[in-house]
Amino acid sequence: MHFLLFESAQAASQKAYELIQEAKFQGAQTFGLATGGTPEQLYAILRSSDIDFSDSYAINLDEYIGLDPTHPQSYAQYMQKNLFSTKPFKATYIPNGSNPDVAAETAAYEKIIEDHPIDLQILGIGTNGHIGFNEPGTPFDSKTSLVDLTASTIQANKRYFESEEEVPTQAYSMGIGTILKAKKIILLAFGSSKAQTIADLFSGNITIDNPASALHHHHDVSILLDPEAALYIKDKLKN
Ligand code: F6R
Repeated sequence: MHFLLFESAQAASQKAYELIQEAKFQGAQTFGLATGGTPEQLYAILRSSDIDFSDSYAINLDEYIGLDPTHPQSYAQYMQKNLFSTKPFKATYIPNGSNPDVAAETAAYEKIIEDHPIDLQILGIGTNGHIGFNEPGTPFDSKTSLVDLTASTIQANKRYFESEEEVPTQAYSMGIGTILKAKKIILLAFGSSKAQTIADLFSGNITIDNPASALHHHHDVSILLDPEAALYIKDKLKN
């Protein structure tokens, strides 16, 4: 696992963009994508670049349960707005949060990922260490499933909704085991709210209480940080 410190979130996002370009150049076809505040600058860079995804596949990490793909706060809409409407892909996949058939939805999503193995996975990280919406306690071999969001995740995500009551309490999320199958993983973490979870990850302590620590089991993970997220580990980083 490589921890890389940048002078700003913008500089770290620029590096993520370069790694995506490099992966594409080397033949990557399928990109695992995240939502939330963290990748917004990366998506802005991609939108204004000349990168062409028309032969690529996008597979998103997660979607809120109960939100139809047309709901303004759905991750389907987030992806349309932040990337897909400007940069069309050959095909894009996001779990359907309005499908009440959990077994069918999760099995279909695993099949999609099996058919399109993820070459490069972009991740954010929750303040509690979640990756995708895999909250603390999730087994490291988990597959795509319906997950309950913790109070801290609901709290962190309420900024996108009119009120906390409107934030869905469950989501479909790619599993930790599914994420670990990606060939290459780039995790972005920005801001002081991520400093403690990044310090925990850096400590090397592998525990299901910190879902991101599963990434220590993967051979190609880059953690791109801004100075605030790297607050407690800055002195220990060589770059
Ligand atoms: C989003 C996702 C989550 C977020 C995490 C951080 O698809 O899977 O793990 O990456 O909650 O969210 P932000 O970037 O809003 O701090």
